[in-house]
Amino acid sequence: MSSPSQDLARLVSWESRPDPYPVLRRLREAGPFTTGDGVVPVSGYHDCRTLLRHPAMSSERERARQSPTRRGPRTRNFLHLDPPDHTRLRGLVAKAFSPRVVQALGPRIRELAHGLLDEAADRGSFDVVADFAHPLPVRVICELLGVPYADRRDFLRWSAHLSAALEPPLPGLRTPEVGAEAARARAAFVAYFRDLLRRRRDDPGDDLVSGLLRVEQESDRLSESELLATCVMLVNAGHETTVNLIANGVLALLRHPAQLAEVREDPELAWAAVEEVLRHDAPVQLVTRVATAPLSVGGAPVETGDLVLVLLAAANRDPAAYPDPDRFDLHRDRSTPSLAFAAGPHFCLGAGLARLEAAIAFELFADRVVGPRPARDTVEYKPNVTLRGPRALDVEFDAIRPARPEPGVGRASRRAG
Ligand code: HEM
Repeated sequence: MSSPSQDLARLVSWESRPDPYPVLRRLREAGPFTTGDGVVPVSGYHDCRTLLRHPAMSSERERARQSPTRRGPRTRNFLHLDPPDHTRLRGLVAKAFSPRVVQALGPRIRELAHGLLDEAADRGSFDVVADFAHPLPVRVICELLGVPYADRRDFLRWSAHLSAALEPPLPGLRTPEVGAEAARARAAFVAYFRDLLRRRRDDPGDDLVSGLLRVEQESDRLSESELLATCVMLVNAGHETTVNLIANGVLALLRHPAQLAEVREDPELAWAAVEEVLRHDAPVQLVTRVATAPLSVGGAPVETGDLVLVLLAAANRDPAAYPDPDRFDLHRDRSTPSLAFAAGPHFCLGAGLARLEAAIAFELFADRVVGPRPARDTVEYKPNVTLRGPRALDVEFDAIRPARPEPGVGRASRRAG
């Protein structure tokens, strides 16, 4: 029997990367507890959902007692801000992610996904991560923001460093080198956007960056540093997570070939696949909050300045919320929403877009890739604990069928939201 603190250390260690779920189950069964240095892991569905909506839970990481930088937010990125700044900044970009706007992107997303499958067919090999799950959301977020796709090599590198800095400050996860790399990446990203904004000022487009630039110039609702931080965050949030949703989902379908066949037969099931992957193998495994007042969760005391680890991936497999939670099942009752996109004021702004991209990816993969099977028995995961996804996913196949003619607005582009 291991103690909850040992289980938390195990969750962080490499050995849990292929399958963190046994450790998450033990943490959930142990209930919330406080480690010696003010970290409170919380893993039950009810507790996580309650905390995500609790007014004493701050998203400003610097307020944590163990924060390396306690001087206030380093960036004006609204993911890590509280109201009223959070509300103001989120409000400025929310329209760009409305169901109507997202729905209109469907045909273009289908076109991009078809193109990637055509390329794999020509090549005769298919790494689902590098050739499909990664380029699709990167291209989509670039087009939405008005960021040249040709510049991706640089910003993808910076993005990877910023993702590493999303890890909670637990031993072994946030070394000083990780922080220093992230700071350098953030500075390079900001310099890149400063240059892009200069160009957009002279030659605006109908993209989100040009729209935000207008707000910055014409009102006092957005400062330049907030504009830059928002752009960096949107590029990052817009792809790192969706790559993992698509890759985790294709992997789950390959491991459940009967359910993959069902998606092939009934493309509407691609939407159920999205929800089940989000629940069963959450791309964002945890989010953090800082207590701004003392409170109690599941009987455990939380002190002001404690860092709360909201273990979304554990909550999504809580048997109190989902019967037989470890089973991957497209036909599961969906009346209890998973916490994969969090809940409360920071509920993922891109949830509709992510769902649409993944539903299209699953539908077209099921329809066009004939006889797919994993090329290897084991899957190597990326190093992060917070953002979970395979590093590569080589798939063998008998053929990749040509695209069927699309009947105007295609199937998995109708629902968004
Ligand atoms: C599968 C894909 C995705 C997953 C699992 C995901 C998950 C999440 C989660 C868990 C949060 C809450 C963070 C917190 O409470 O601390 C969040 C916030 C956010 N996500 Fe996503 N996300 C995904 C895709 C996207 C996409 C495509 C975008 C588009 C740009 C996006 C934009 C955002 C933004 C802007 C926030 C901050 C919201 C706020 O602070 O008010 N996400 N996401």
